[in-house]
Amino acid sequence: MLAVVLGMQFGDEGKGKITDYLSENFDVVVRFNGGNNAGHTVVTSQGKFKFHLIPSGSLRSSVVILGNGMVIDPYSLIDEIENLKKANPDVQIKISKMAHVVTPIHKYLDKSEENVRGGLSIGTTAQGIGPTYEDKYARTGVRVIDLLEKSIVTEKIETIYRMKENLLADSPYREKSEREKLAADLHEAGKKLMQYMDYTENLIYRFSQEKKNILFEGAQGTMLDIDFGMYPFVTSSNTLAGALSSGSGFPFRKIQRVIGVIKAYMSKVGSGPFPTEIEGDLAVRLRDLGHEYGTTTGRPRRVGWLDLPLLNYASRLNDVDSFAITNVDTLGKLDEIKVCEKYLKDGKEVDFIPRSLEEIKTISISYKTIRPWGNLDIENIFSSPDGQYDRLPVELRNYVELIEKNTGKPVEIISLGERRENTIHRNLDA
Ligand code: IMP
Repeated sequence: MLAVVLGMQFGDEGKGKITDYLSENFDVVVRFNGGNNAGHTVVTSQGKFKFHLIPSGSLRSSVVILGNGMVIDPYSLIDEIENLKKANPDVQIKISKMAHVVTPIHKYLDKSEENVRGGLSIGTTAQGIGPTYEDKYARTGVRVIDLLEKSIVTEKIETIYRMKENLLADSPYREKSEREKLAADLHEAGKKLMQYMDYTENLIYRFSQEKKNILFEGAQGTMLDIDFGMYPFVTSSNTLAGALSSGSGFPFRKIQRVIGVIKAYMSKVGSGPFPTEIEGDLAVRLRDLGHEYGTTTGRPRRVGWLDLPLLNYASRLNDVDSFAITNVDTLGKLDEIKVCEKYLKDGKEVDFIPRSLEEIKTISISYKTIRPWGNLDIENIFSSPDGQYDRLPVELRNYVELIEKNTGKPVEIISLGERRENTIHRNLDA
């Protein structure tokens, strides 16, 4: 099986849990975009694991690949590899030689650029993601393979400095000695990572020829895509299914299954339009019930109701085959649940969210109110492998079926809690 798992909303949909759950059946897990702006938490009987760069499927698969579309902080990666090896000692780790490197200069620039943006500041994760992609596209970026040549790293750091001198004027990097020290440190980190570097596009091709099961793991979410998200409040990479081709070198035509992960409600970190946002006490309650604080930054996440038109858009852009829904246990505890069924403009239905920041303010929302399902009786639901879905409260089944009716796509996986075991996998062929 060649499959991809992606977020359908603003990131933090629970992809980590779903990928970990699915990865039991996959030999190879591949990441193809983003860097340590992502954060996944996976809970297993061995404990709680937090990853930022390494794909979440890494605890159970035998090979993990960090593809060329990623931007990699080598210091964080060295730490994560050490942790991963404690949990899965036999795992093989491969990093694309062509992935780009996030350096401390990029992290500094991330903050300086945010200051310059003023009212249009994005609320980035401050992990240097944007500036690293900027350098990639400006063709001044440092690639993983460059780390092995000290003179190349030095030259590239100098070039980046000359290009961004204004933004770096107050930084330690205005001193040549600091830049040289940075280049030397990066080169040392490169030497530590050398054993993992490879032309991963060739490896992935070979694994596919050997009929290995490969899972591609998207980072962030569809509405953070640089092209189709709520620009400019987006990340700096493409997050859609199609990005797996440019971000890993694997041809998209070969992908057999696209799984879209949805959170039962929505959450967002950072600024920008969030049409179904909940404010006030209810937002505080939902945030606390769902532990909605960023894995990477610890920031409180904004929360909102499920947005069906947005979900339809995401489903279409990614050509989703089926959905996995997470956090239904959290949502059911509220006294009343709402779902955005339609957008209205001047009282008329529009099925598409405009991207002009002014026009978006003119959109209002038509909600459907749903009866909550309360606390789930987990023991009873999982008392036997058969009939788990049928043992869910009728209100929750209605919620799932509302999503299916509105999107025309089945909800294949229902996650009832953060543990792997608390997952219902419906057999869609039955
Ligand atoms: P950046 O990717 O750090 O440049 O941040 C750009 C925007 O994307 C900010 O609003 C971040 O909060 C958001 N973002 C980036 N990565 C994630 C993620 O993995 N989950 C949720 N939001 C993210």
